[in-house]
Amino acid sequence: MIRAATPADLDTLVEQRLALLTEVAEPARRATVVAMGDATRRALARAFERGTLLAWLAVEETPLGSLIALLDERLPTLSCPNAREAYVAHLWVAPRARGRGLGTSLLAALAAHATACRLERVRLHSAEKATSVYLRAGWQLRTLDMERRFTDLS
Ligand SMILES: CC(C)(COP(=O)(O)OP(=O)(O)OC[C@H]1O[C@@H](n2cnc3c(N)ncnc32)[C@H](O)[C@@H]1OP(=O)(O)O)[C@@H](O)C(=O)NCCC(=O)NCCS
Repeated sequence: MIRAATPADLDTLVEQRLALLTEVAEPARRATVVAMGDATRRALARAFERGTLLAWLAVEETPLGSLIALLDERLPTLSCPNAREAYVAHLWVAPRARGRGLGTSLLAALAAHATACRLERVRLHSAEKATSVYLRAGWQLRTLDMERRFTDLS
C-alpha cells in the first residue's frame, strides 16, 4: 500500500533516508551518514511545518520504501509560468522489496498529486542505476545542469 506520510512518520523517513545515504556513500563516509540523523530530522520537520514536504511511504507489514519531494521556491519561467515546482529529494526501497514495483508506485503517487495540485514540473537527479525506473514512469533525461561547490567535503 502507498500512503501519504505525516509528521508521525518522521522516524521512518529519517531511517530510510539514512539507509539510502549509507547505500550510496563510499565506505569511508558511512560514519558521517549516521551523524546526519538529527539534521535530517530537523530539515524534514521544518518542511512539514511549512507545508513544503510531499512524502509517501510504501507499507506492507512494515514500511518498505519512501519518496520525499520538496516544493521549490522558483521564479516563473516560460515553461512553468506559475512557478509551481517540486524536487524529488529521496526515493528508496528496501533491498528485499526491490523489483516488485514499489518504486514505480511511489512515483505514481507523486505524479497523481502533481496533477491534482497543478504542479507544473518536478525535477530530480537520478542515480545511474535508477534511470530505467524513471524513464519507464515517463520522466525525461535533461542535460546542461551545472553546479559549483563552495564547500570542501574532504
Ligand atoms: C531505484 C529504486 C527506488 C527502485 O525501486 P523498486 O521498487 O525496485 O523499483 P520497481 O520495482 O518499480 O522497478 C524496478 C527497476 O528498478 C531498477 N533497480 C535499480 N536498482 C535495483 C535493485 N537493486 N534491485 C532491483 N531493481 C533495481 C531496475 O532497473 C528495475 O528496472 P527493470 O525492471 O528495468 O530491471 C530502488 O532500487 C532503490 O531504492 N535503489 C537504491 C536507492 C536509489 O538509487 N534511489 C534512487 C535515487 S535517484
